[in-house]
Amino acid sequence: MYAPEAEKSVRLFLKYGLVSDPWQAAARGHPTLDPDLESTLRAVVNEIASEPLDRLVLDSWPITQAQIETGIREVLLSSGSFDAYLATGSLTLTAASLHEAIRRVRLLVREGGLARLMLGYGYTALVENLMAVRHYGSMREEDFVSGRLHRPWVSRSLEYELAAGMAVGHYELVPGVDGRFVKLTRRGAALWRDAQELWRVTGYADTRHRLSMMAEFANLADLDELTNLILPDFMDMRRAFINDCDIPAGAKLLEVGSGSGMLTFDAGLYDTLRPSSLTCVDPSPVLTGLAMKKAKRRHAQGVRFVRGVAESLPFPPESFDHALAFAVMQYTDREQALPELYRVLRPGGSVAISVPLDLPALHQTVMQRWFKPLQRPSYGSFVFVSPDDIPEHALAAGFRVLSVSTKTTSLDYSRPELTVRIMMQFHVFQDTLSALPYQARLDLRDDLIGRGRYLLSRGADMRFEAPMQWVWLQKP
Ligand SMILES: C[S@@+](CC[C@H](N)C(=O)[O-])C[C@H]1O[C@@H](n2cnc3c(N)ncnc32)[C@H](O)[C@@H]1O
Repeated sequence: MYAPEAEKSVRLFLKYGLVSDPWQAAARGHPTLDPDLESTLRAVVNEIASEPLDRLVLDSWPITQAQIETGIREVLLSSGSFDAYLATGSLTLTAASLHEAIRRVRLLVREGGLARLMLGYGYTALVENLMAVRHYGSMREEDFVSGRLHRPWVSRSLEYELAAGMAVGHYELVPGVDGRFVKLTRRGAALWRDAQELWRVTGYADTRHRLSMMAEFANLADLDELTNLILPDFMDMRRAFINDCDIPAGAKLLEVGSGSGMLTFDAGLYDTLRPSSLTCVDPSPVLTGLAMKKAKRRHAQGVRFVRGVAESLPFPPESFDHALAFAVMQYTDREQALPELYRVLRPGGSVAISVPLDLPALHQTVMQRWFKPLQRPSYGSFVFVSPDDIPEHALAAGFRVLSVSTKTTSLDYSRPELTVRIMMQFHVFQDTLSALPYQARLDLRDDLIGRGRYLLSRGADMRFEAPMQWVWLQKP
């Protein structure tokens, strides 16, 4: 059983919207800092690092003052860069995003103390380390310390983390043929199991996935091409969705997760529904850029693009008549996103939602064979939603559920590179993938592409039917 202090700390980390290590991996880059902001950052790190440290909360973690400073700096940088990314599309910290991160870190420290900030941060780093040693069985000492296989985004040496982990009995160093190897002790293995449980109960795992997913969409400049190849009927489904949603012309519309504008412009939402105004919200700067080009080419009037997420819509209450979200809600935290939709709609307003449901037949056949190296090929709730999910969250938010129906669309998995890329990029097998270190995920990708090609060469049929759920809601 993990320490209750660890749970409290991770919960506080999430409560104040702080992010750490894995976000940087997802963003595939290091946050950069304007030299002018460096002195602000340094002063704040010193100020927070001088707060009293409750050693009881830390249990036996032998943390040093230097490590505390590094930790605070990393949390501020990664949380600030995440905020900056949402606002500007770039990882470069702005003064506003850094101050927002500082504000949240101070709030956490005020509520829980410095030790809990360190424990929250420490856990995110610790988990990556434990996961890597567990996965490889034994890791060359140089690999652990350089982070080459499991934390390539961290620029400093992980020597201290190894020493600290050994001091508290999580790792041991054993001599090998050509050097020393890091292994998990029994205590370390137990801690890894506890950490996984902690991830689950606190919701940390979900947040980690959501952040990575958000970052993945920023790497998808070819989303249109990809979806047209993998989902050849999807454009027709979008058109049918628009025709069915029964929204009168002249409405003030909100489109959540508008992405590159495939529903908005390619499938004709804008032309068919003829809204008086259309607000497109999406967290991905890359996709929003593509949608803006489409709007410009069509000389679309009354359309605005806003960077944001469904979980905290940047609009006052009752701003819109109706809302639509096509193939988006599966990536969101529905517990937050549905109340947000409710808040921004006027009474009587409707929401049209389309989400992919699980793929049972597929699951049992080719995918089982193809994705066998994943051992537990179970789909995650970030890609496929259970049939009760949206209706239940909608009712809880206060909506009336007008109708729920299931449609089918075809999936074409006959290009293994694309399929594997989509599966991994969209974390389809999140349960298994999230327990793999960084490099192991890349190696697995190559292995899976090879397996897909082999299955194709043996004549496997890679075209399937996929269920999509349509839910129509109304705010009473
Ligand atoms: C599969 S695409 C669908 C895009 C578009 N609706 C379409 O019909 O093609 C999913 C979109 O959801 C966006 N997204 C991901 N997480 C989100 C969140 N938390 N809130 C709102 N949109 C999100 C992505 O950036 C991406 O543009």
